[in-house]
Amino acid sequence: MDPVTDSLDEVHRRLAGLRDGEVADYIPELAGADPDDFGIALVSMAGRTYRTGRADTPFTLQSVSKPFVYALALSDHGVDEVLRRVGVEPSGDAFNAISLEPGTGRPANPMVNAGAIATTALVRADGADDRFRRILARLSAFAGRELDVDEAVYASEAATGDRNRALAYLMRSAGSLRADPEETVDTYFRQCAVRVTTADLAVMAATLADGGRNPVTGVRVVSEPDAVRTLAVMATCGMYDGAGRWMLDVGLPAKSGVSGGLIAAGPARFGVAVHSPPLDASGNSVRGVAALRAMAERFGLHIM
Ligand code: DON
Repeated sequence: MDPVTDSLDEVHRRLAGLRDGEVADYIPELAGADPDDFGIALVSMAGRTYRTGRADTPFTLQSVSKPFVYALALSDHGVDEVLRRVGVEPSGDAFNAISLEPGTGRPANPMVNAGAIATTALVRADGADDRFRRILARLSAFAGRELDVDEAVYASEAATGDRNRALAYLMRSAGSLRADPEETVDTYFRQCAVRVTTADLAVMAATLADGGRNPVTGVRVVSEPDAVRTLAVMATCGMYDGAGRWMLDVGLPAKSGVSGGLIAAGPARFGVAVHSPPLDASGNSVRGVAALRAMAERFGLHIM
């Protein structure tokens, strides 16, 4: 066994018994997740994967899709145009809050739902099908394999996602969303329902850490400046209103999702991912946050 896998195993062993947090149930299909699912994976810049626990169990991306679609919007339009449409300031509010700039209706940042919905609408395409096709292709390139959609989770969110629809209509009425609200939210729900494993997520995080080049496949997925910008927004906004404490404890750009996925990137060093469904009050995976804290202590991960 190598020392990295030994350390991951040890962190996993130490935290597997942690019983805090609640599995998200506002998307009914997510409520059936096994609270004992717990996987950790790390991918080095040499493209080597280290893993422990249930790193091959599938789950949906949810908000972890947001930075990757933001990177795609940046590559389609450039940073100035994207900034005109979606801000980059932490909102200090919950992920599903109405975080819109007074007057313009511009969402606070691309990591809260409003900003992510506006970002999805920015992806260049010939209609909604083509837009989702491009998003899925880009997410797949980040992961280094062809991903697919968990149709049950998609249908479950589409049936219950009225708050996100309301956010889209608010932005539409303020003039900050210049696309069809229903179509945009539908694409956003599909992007959230893309199925991955913890091992996939670690490759996706490592691709951002490697300046936009997938270290496993060698494919350039986004430009280096766009990868760096994406990491910057993850650093300030990725952990919602837990972002400040996260920087203090872990010190890495990161993104969480309500299915219990969590990624963090050590620029030019590694990508790491944890999956464990029980969430804290901010919507971040309890074991995910604890595992990254433990690794930050062990390896000295802080970049700031
Ligand atoms: O829009 C939603 O509510 C979900 N599809 C994603 C939210 C999410 O993952 C927030 N992260 N912690």
